[in-house]
Parts: sequence; structure tokens; C-alpha cells
Amino acid sequence: MKKTGKFITIEGTDGSGKSTQIELLKDYFNEINKEAVFVREPGSTEIGEKIRSLILDTKNTAMTDETEALLYAACRIQLVKEVILPSLEEGKIVVCDRYVDSSIAYQGFGRGLGQEKIESINSFAIEKCMPDITLFFNLPPEKGILRKNNQKKLDRIELEGLSFHNKVYNGYLSLAASNKDRIKSIDASLPVEQVFLDVKNIIDAMR
Ligand SMILES: Nc1ncnc2c1ncn2[C@@H]1O[C@H](COP(=O)(O)OP(=O)(O)O)[C@@H](O)[C@H]1O
Ligand SMILES: [Mg+2]
Repeated sequence: MKKTGKFITIEGTDGSGKSTQIELLKDYFNEINKEAVFVREPGSTEIGEKIRSLILDTKNTAMTDETEALLYAACRIQLVKEVILPSLEEGKIVVCDRYVDSSIAYQGFGRGLGQEKIESINSFAIEKCMPDITLFFNLPPEKGILRKNNQKKLDRIELEGLSFHNKVYNGYLSLAASNKDRIKSIDASLPVEQVFLDVKNIIDAMR
């Protein structure tokens, strides 16, 4: 079946404001009566949530980088087949908090597995389900870490040090530079309301 909806993904390092902007986007779609499905990675399916706890559990210090990359991909295809594709086929908007760019940035650049390996695992995992548009919240990791400092207990990935998060950030910058049509870079250091104006402009332009 042909997908007729729009697939929007939200990307950026930890603390860049993804969850905050997604909540504002939910309200906005409600206001304008647009039906949208909101999901997050890893997770948002019964099996995916089980894989999520495996990935993020701070006790899993023995997990290899390769295992981590494959678990993310497994989690992703479950979400694609169970939720994303069926929703797009019904003509709905799907908003996903993190997607394949996260794997390239975190496992490809951050863990150092390389972009090619991650793309190849994911070309099997997601088939051809690529986002129509990706909002990249551009914020240097040291600023994101400060924002998250007094928040909940950090998970296994968030606990990684600044040098890991800087590699992830560089990965995002490289992806944004080479996918200018799909990836819209937003200055996430601005106040929440101003960031949302940029989000809204991009979303309104694609409808
Ligand atoms: N534009 C902003 N300026 C300052 N603080 C922000 C901004 N956006 C979000 N925050 C705060 O930063 C923290 C992390 O935001 P969050 O939306 O959870 O980021 P993410 O989902 O990308 O990890 C939260 O405490 C949030 O209130
Ligand atoms: Mg979040």
C-alpha cells in the first residue's frame, strides 16, 4: 500500500529540547485539528519497550557496541511495521522522537562503528521508510548536559561522558550538512517559544 501521510522525525543531542517541542507540537496539531500519531524511540510498541529497557539499563555495562546498534535497529523495525507504516498508509502525520539519524550519530559516530555499518544494518531494518522531514535541534552537548543536570536518573547512554556526546553532535552536524533537503537545522539555544516558532514555520510549510 502507498504511504500518503507525512513522517516527521525529531533529532538532537540529550537536553536539546526535543520532548519540550514535541509537547508544543501536540497542542498545535490539536488546535488545528490535525490527526497525528506521536511515538518515541527506542520503544512505543510492547516488544520495543522491552528492548528499550535492555538498551538503557545502567546495569548492562557488558553490552557491546554492536549489540547496542542491532537492538536499536530491531526496536525500530518493530515500530515501523506496527505503527509508522500503517499510520502513514491511513494518511496520518507521524512524529517520531529520534529515528535512524540517532543511530548514525550515537552508534556510528559516538561509538565509532561508522556511518556505513549503521546504514547497512538499518537498510535491512527500515526498508525504505525514511522521514519526509527531520527537525534537528542544534545544541552543543555541554549546554544540553547543563539543562538535564537536575533531572531524573540518567540512563546508560546519557551517562556517557562529554567526549562521547561531542562525537554524537559532530555526527549530527555531518548528517545535517549532507541531507539539507530533509534535515532542517534549528537553533535550539534560543528560548522555548522562539524555537517553537521555527518548528511551526517548518511544519506549516510542509502541509
Ligand atoms: N529552549 C530551551 N531553553 C532552555 N531550556 C530548555 C529549552 N528547551 C527545553 N529546555 C529544558 O531543558 C531540559 C531538557 O529538555 P528536553 O525537552 O527534555 O530535551 P530532550 O528531550 O531533547 O532531551 C528540560 O528541563 C527543559 O525544560
Ligand atoms: Mg526527550
